[in-house]
Amino acid sequence: MQQAHRSRILHFLGDPGGQLGEKAYEYFEDGLLVIQEGHVLKIGDAHDLMPSLSPEIKVIKHNNTLLLPGFVDTHIHFPQVEIIAAYGEQLMDWLKKYAFPAEEKYCDRKYAKQMARIFIEQLLRNGTTTALVFCSVHPESVDAFFEQCGEKNLRMIAGKVMMDRNCPSSLRDTAETAYNDSKNLIDKWHNKGRLQYAVTPRFAVTSTPAQLAMARKLMYEYPDVYLQTHLSENHEEISLVLDLFPECKNYLDVYDRYDLLGERSVFAHCIHLGGDEWKRLSKTNSNLAFCPSSNLFLGSGLFSLEKADEQNLTVGIGTDVGGGNNFSVLQTLGDAYKVIQLKKEKMSPMRGLYLATLGGAKSLGLSNKIGNFESGKEADFVCLDSAATPLLEMRTGNCSDLSEEIFALSMLGDDRVIKETWIAGAKAYERD
Ligand code: GUN
Ligand code: ZN
Repeated sequence: MQQAHRSRILHFLGDPGGQLGEKAYEYFEDGLLVIQEGHVLKIGDAHDLMPSLSPEIKVIKHNNTLLLPGFVDTHIHFPQVEIIAAYGEQLMDWLKKYAFPAEEKYCDRKYAKQMARIFIEQLLRNGTTTALVFCSVHPESVDAFFEQCGEKNLRMIAGKVMMDRNCPSSLRDTAETAYNDSKNLIDKWHNKGRLQYAVTPRFAVTSTPAQLAMARKLMYEYPDVYLQTHLSENHEEISLVLDLFPECKNYLDVYDRYDLLGERSVFAHCIHLGGDEWKRLSKTNSNLAFCPSSNLFLGSGLFSLEKADEQNLTVGIGTDVGGGNNFSVLQTLGDAYKVIQLKKEKMSPMRGLYLATLGGAKSLGLSNKIGNFESGKEADFVCLDSAATPLLEMRTGNCSDLSEEIFALSMLGDDRVIKETWIAGAKAYERD
């Protein structure tokens, strides 16, 4: 089954922050994206490709639309959807007051299912087609999330939080149960259709050495699963970690001693790292999730994109809902820009959009499957409306080039600009 989408189309071939300059992206003012069996067959100017289409192919014309690859959210928490935008605390108190009580409810399969529906709806209405997701400590929460992702054919990565200390007893597993539960979930879900598993020790504060050793064992036994955790987000957190692991040189060294660094690993936040930590992340090809909305909302600090670039690190964008106060990767780019301004660094409009698409896919090792419209990639895409609000219509109407329009969309856009979200060539969300 073939179909073709005619629209303005933009996608990235590489990082505009590197040497590629304008060669980093392709833009078609009147483009055609041809899809076969859920995968990209070809992309190009409609004028060139239309004559080669067989007459029975359905051509869907998107008027006043900018078609982009779906957004990739490299760090988000499913069981925190109900406490998004909770007032008044920084990380450690916020966890105690809001996050842990919310996560306790996910022992209930029915509740987890109901919330999974809401969570996935939010992802799709914000144009997020792939995410790296923390579930709760309960295997039921992973089942609820993956069941519904499977039904919608979404490409998602998720895992059960491992947490055996410094949390309420109702949320505590043990090194052994975390291992057994994770193993069962990997056997059940990993590589089932488009779903993949991430071993998920919450952070060094809530895992004993015995549990981190179990995370290592899982990574050895299943070399193609992911590892996700938090790193160097908040000063109180960092000093707790150093107290809990006095033998370690620094925060990252805790994970390093358990062999948890590497190209399948994604570390969220990475705000207050020392030089040795930056180098070690780079040496091990580890990946970073930049979560600006959360870092501002929880008052955690300012991430340095320049330091990550100096070390050639792969960075993706994370909303970190519920520490982050929005599901929109576009809005998160707006916060990213402000963080980078405060750091007196630069992130071009195209760079931001790259990080939200192909860059995110790279940081998840998925750039051979998603992130742009190269032939053979899975056809997950979003249709954006640059005139979604009167303000956007006025502002984007005044833009002199594409980069200015992308910047306006990143600074002013949110779920209102997402007209449609398509998953593997099928429409999964429509705004109107
Ligand atoms: N560190 C440990 N757990 C969490 C969490 O749930 N959210 C954030 N932002 N940081 C964490
Ligand atoms: Zn987080």
